[in-house]
Amino acid sequence: MLIKNAVLINEKEKRKCSVRIADGKIKEIATQLEAEKEEHVIDASGYYLLPGGIDVHTHIEMPCGNLVSSDDYDAGTKAAVWGGTTTVMDFAEYDKGEKLQDGLDRWMTKSEGKSYCDYSFHMTVSGWDETTEEQIHKIKSQGITSFKAYTAYQDDIGVNDKELFRILKCMKKIGGLLCVHCENGPVLECLQADLKHVNPGRIRNHPESRPNLVEKEAVSRVIDLAAIVDVPVYIVHVSTKEAVEVIRKAKAKGQKVYAETCPQYLLLDEEAYNLPGFESAKYVLSPPLRKKEDQKALWEALKDGTIDVVSTDHCSFNYHGQKDYGKEDFTQIPNGIPGIENRMKLMLTYGIRHGISLEKIVKVCSAAPAKIFGLYPKKGVLKIGSDADMILIKQEKAHSVTWAELHQRVDYTPYEGMEEEWEIPYVFVHGTCVVDHETWSGKKHLGRFQKCI
Ligand code: URP
Ligand code: ZN
Ligand code: ZN
Repeated sequence: MLIKNAVLINEKEKRKCSVRIADGKIKEIATQLEAEKEEHVIDASGYYLLPGGIDVHTHIEMPCGNLVSSDDYDAGTKAAVWGGTTTVMDFAEYDKGEKLQDGLDRWMTKSEGKSYCDYSFHMTVSGWDETTEEQIHKIKSQGITSFKAYTAYQDDIGVNDKELFRILKCMKKIGGLLCVHCENGPVLECLQADLKHVNPGRIRNHPESRPNLVEKEAVSRVIDLAAIVDVPVYIVHVSTKEAVEVIRKAKAKGQKVYAETCPQYLLLDEEAYNLPGFESAKYVLSPPLRKKEDQKALWEALKDGTIDVVSTDHCSFNYHGQKDYGKEDFTQIPNGIPGIENRMKLMLTYGIRHGISLEKIVKVCSAAPAKIFGLYPKKGVLKIGSDADMILIKQEKAHSVTWAELHQRVDYTPYEGMEEEWEIPYVFVHGTCVVDHETWSGKKHLGRFQKCI
C-alpha cells in the first residue's frame, strides 16, 4: 500500500512525503514514491499522517465490587481504534488470595483473540509478602515491565507505605517501572465517613472527600520514597496544580519522575458535580474533576514537559444499571469515566487551541508512552521498520461530540456537546486500513499482545 502526499508528523518531524507499507510495517518513506503495479494507493493530499495513539491507562472489563466495567476487549479496543488509538495498555489485577500470575492469566484470556489493536499490560501489585518479589520477576519475564500500586483503597487493591516501599525497591532490583495512583487513602476514607454520616446520597461528597491536598500529599510522598530508593516512578492521572508543582520541582532536581494526565482533567471541571438529580454520578471518578485553575496548571505542565503523557484512564460504567448502584451512598458509585474513543480528537482540538503543536500531540499521546513503557520504536513513531499503526487526520468544521456517534459500550459520554474540529477518517492497524471514513473493517486477529522491554 502507498500513502501519497501526506504531511508526516513525528514528535520531532514534520514533512511532506509518501509512505509505503508492506507486511504490516513501514517499508519506505520518501518525498516522492511511485506506485508499483496493482499497488493500493491512498492520495493523502491535505491530510496529516501520525503514528496511531497509544493509550497507556485503561481499565477494560475491570471488576469493581459486584460490577465489571462495561467495555470488554471487543468493544473497548474497537472504540479505541475508531478514535485513532492503535495500542492500549491495560491494568491487570489479581484477587485476594491469588498470585499475580493468576491475574495476568485472566487478563491474557479476556484479551486474546478479542482485541482489534495491539495491547499490553501493567501488573497491579496489591500487597507484599515473602513471595512477591519472585512473583514480580516471573511477570517481568513474560514481557510485562511496568507495575501499578494504589496508595488509596488500602483495604482492597491498595498498599500501605511499607508495601509501597518494598515494591519500589523491587522495581530498582529488576529494572521495572512503577505507576502509582496517588491519593492518601486513609485520609480520604475519614473524610468520606464524616460526609456520609451527614448525607450519604449527596454526590458532591465525592470531590469534597478528595481535596487537592489528598492528591498532592500522596504524590509528594511517593516521589520522596522513589528518591530514597533511587528508582524512576510514573505518577498516573495527575489532576491538581499542587501535584504539578511537586512534580516540576522533583524533575528540576534531576529525579526521574514521569507524569500523566487525562483529557477529563484538562477539559472538564468540578461544575459537573452541580448537575440536577443523579446526573453528576456520570462524573464520579478518582481523583475527581477539579477547578479551572487546576486545568490551567495542567495545560502549562503539558507545554513545559512537567507532564509527559496524556492517557484516558478509560473505565466505563453505565449510568443506568451501574452508576446507580450508589444512589443511596456516594461511596458505592463505581469510579471511572469512558474516553478511550475521544482522547485523540479532543487532544487535537483543544491541544491546538492551547497552542500545542501536532508534533507535541504525537509526543504525549504516542511517542512518550511508547518510550516510557518499552514499545519504541516498534510503536510511537513513523519510521522504516516500525509497525504501520497510523492515522490520517484532517481539520474540519467544528461539530459536537454526541454519544450516539461513539462505539464505546457505555450509555453516556462525559464529553457530550463539546466541540471537536479534527477528523480521523483513516486508521491503519498493522498496515491494514480498518477505518475508512464511516466504513469499519477491523479484524480481531490484528490485535496482539505486545511484550515490553
Ligand atoms: O475513577 C477511576 N479513575 N477509576 C479507575 C481506577 C483508577 O483509580 O484509576
Ligand atoms: Zn487511579
Ligand atoms: Zn486508572
